[in-house]
Amino acid sequence: MPARFRKSFRFNPDHVSDKATQHSYSRQAKEYEQKWEKYLSHTHRAVLKELDLSPESSVLDVSAGTGLLQKSLLEKGIPFKEMVLNDISEGMLGVAKERFSDDDRFSFTHQYAEQLDFPDQSFDAIICLNAFHNYKEQARVSEEIYRLLKPKGALVILDWNNSGLFRGMNFMIDLFSPEVINSRSANEMSVQLRKNVFEIEKEREWWFGWWKFYLIKARK
Ligand SMILES: C[S@@+](CC[C@H](N)C(=O)[O-])C[C@H]1O[C@@H](n2cnc3c(N)ncnc32)[C@H](O)[C@@H]1O
Repeated sequence: MPARFRKSFRFNPDHVSDKATQHSYSRQAKEYEQKWEKYLSHTHRAVLKELDLSPESSVLDVSAGTGLLQKSLLEKGIPFKEMVLNDISEGMLGVAKERFSDDDRFSFTHQYAEQLDFPDQSFDAIICLNAFHNYKEQARVSEEIYRLLKPKGALVILDWNNSGLFRGMNFMIDLFSPEVINSRSANEMSVQLRKNVFEIEKEREWWFGWWKFYLIKARK
């Protein structure tokens, strides 16, 4: 692995905006799935189509929230060996913990995406869904994901697409949201991933109502 991807960086989780993001999600954890039902079922469907998992797959979801994606994954019978659900919000991840308490393929961690404490090359697939816009140190997250993937491992990332008319909407969301809002265009995201030596396998962007999304599937 290139030396620049080894961990040297110390992320400071006490920064006020990260705490604000954490608290904001913990506050809304109970009503999150109902409030965002259409948005979530649309985006989760898009990601599920891109996951090519096998019964041997080790998977990390960097910001798993309430584990709703994994609920659909189980309903569809998509195989995997182990799934680590990570999130900084105890409230959000608490819902996931309850949901999967009797399935020992799941484990749970509370770590900042900027500094993930797993050994190099731990995962066959990494998911980052509806969350990249919340990260402050985005280049760091991309480096961490690269470090954690096994060779040929896949990253599937879906998020708001800060381009065209959606830039105005993004500006408004940022104005009124207590969370870190730091979204990117599909192009900015793929440039970032290429810089971290990922190969881009798929890149698409589309509108869903007044939301504009991108999905990128990239390989180590
Ligand atoms: C919009 S929710 C998406 C949750 C889930 N992926 C989904 O699609 O339902 C964003 C999640 O990112 C988490 N998050 C925000 N900043 C984070 C960070 N720096 N590291 C890890 N998770 C973070 C939040 O706590 C929240 O649960």
